[in-house]
Amino acid sequence: MIREVLRMGDARLLEKARPVEDFASPELRELLVDMRDTMHHLGGVGLAAPQIGVSLCVVIFGFEANARYPEEAPVPNTVLINPQLTPLSDEMAEGWEGCLSIPGMRGLVSRWRHLRYSGYDESGVFFEKEAADFHARVVQHECDHLEGMLYPMRMNDLSRFGFVDAMAGMPTPVE
Ligand code: NI
Repeated sequence: MIREVLRMGDARLLEKARPVEDFASPELRELLVDMRDTMHHLGGVGLAAPQIGVSLCVVIFGFEANARYPEEAPVPNTVLINPQLTPLSDEMAEGWEGCLSIPGMRGLVSRWRHLRYSGYDESGVFFEKEAADFHARVVQHECDHLEGMLYPMRMNDLSRFGFVDAMAGMPTPVE
């Protein structure tokens, strides 16, 4: 079911999410279906459970091609539960981000360029993976939602924050 996405200003987006304990529950199955439906409906590349008002450590991300980020390489479709992120170098990279909770806007955000992420898939199986560049950026953005962090809170220069349709050269967002 397509769910309403909370927008920045809603205090629920600032809460720290709880870890998932029961991987076999029907509620988790339903949550994942709703997250996928909602993300695909809005054309997003990722979604975190708190964005639909569920305060659990669950994120999904991935795409083959995305109109909101037409220049970026594909990212595998992933369910990541109770994630842990570890940077693999000190190197940072700047890139433009948007968020389904902040529709119509983009901001330039500095993120770790390389990282390892680990956590559980939807069957409760532990896995870990290395990622770089946009893939690493998406993981960091989604996992920030679990800490109550939105990308403008990570920005160093708010002069690089604005409406997509007012920014020259930015792809038109789907949201
Ligand atoms: Ni977001």
